[in-house]
Amino acid sequence: MFTKNPLSNRPIRSFVIRSGRLTNSQRKAIQTHWESYVLNSRTLSRPDCFSFPKNVALSVEIGFGMGDTLLQMATDEPTKNFVGIEVHRPGIGKLLHHIAENDLKNLWIICQDAKEAMMNCFESNSIDKIFILFPDPWPKKRHQKRRLIQSNFVALLTEKLKPGGILHLATDWKPYAEQMLEILEQSKGLVNENGSSNYWECPKRPETKFERRGKRLGYDVWDLLFSKSAS
Ligand SMILES: C[S@@+](CC[C@H](N)C(=O)[O-])C[C@H]1O[C@@H](n2cnc3c(N)ncnc32)[C@H](O)[C@@H]1O
Repeated sequence: MFTKNPLSNRPIRSFVIRSGRLTNSQRKAIQTHWESYVLNSRTLSRPDCFSFPKNVALSVEIGFGMGDTLLQMATDEPTKNFVGIEVHRPGIGKLLHHIAENDLKNLWIICQDAKEAMMNCFESNSIDKIFILFPDPWPKKRHQKRRLIQSNFVALLTEKLKPGGILHLATDWKPYAEQMLEILEQSKGLVNENGSSNYWECPKRPETKFERRGKRLGYDVWDLLFSKSAS
């Protein structure tokens, strides 16, 4: 699953841990609410998967950043369950603060590399929707191997989706959008909901923080919506 750096034999990560300072409220939320809302796969006894109720729809957002979009989705749909995967502590702190403040009972966090979390924490055919909104574009050619959307990761996501489940990606970096489209179109078991080679022109989802910043700079946005075929 992990592409290794041939010189160090370490996995190539799709993120760098940014040293952004925690605000007092983020630090307090991490100290107070971590145990309640952050799922810890290392403490699981059975083969690591979390067992979410099968009769409740489950959505997962990978790389939720500061968490605004995930918070809105979970607030808008209180009868569905949501899990966010992120490694950026200020974002985790901010989301924890809002989960606790709003007493949300349908939103949890995994603080771990999404590649490990997806591999270890979810059963096959268990997720209704996976969102990856504005993953780091890694625009320099020598960094492109760090991009999260690679065919082996997409195969893993497809395995974890329920038949008919949805994979929703978005980016404001055109070369990455083209690469995403190519990888998803070639992925076994995925179908483009907008017809072959098409992006989703009028996506239904909340605007993200990263997207807002890009739009201020005049960037366009490409959304991709694929479903897992039933058979
Ligand atoms: C460009 S930001 C976008 C954040 C948010 N989705 C938005 O649109 O505002 C990408 C986020 O993905 C997170 N990320 C990247 N690779 C990840 C990984 N392998 N596991 C977990 N989070 C990851 C980064 O920490 C970062 O916060």
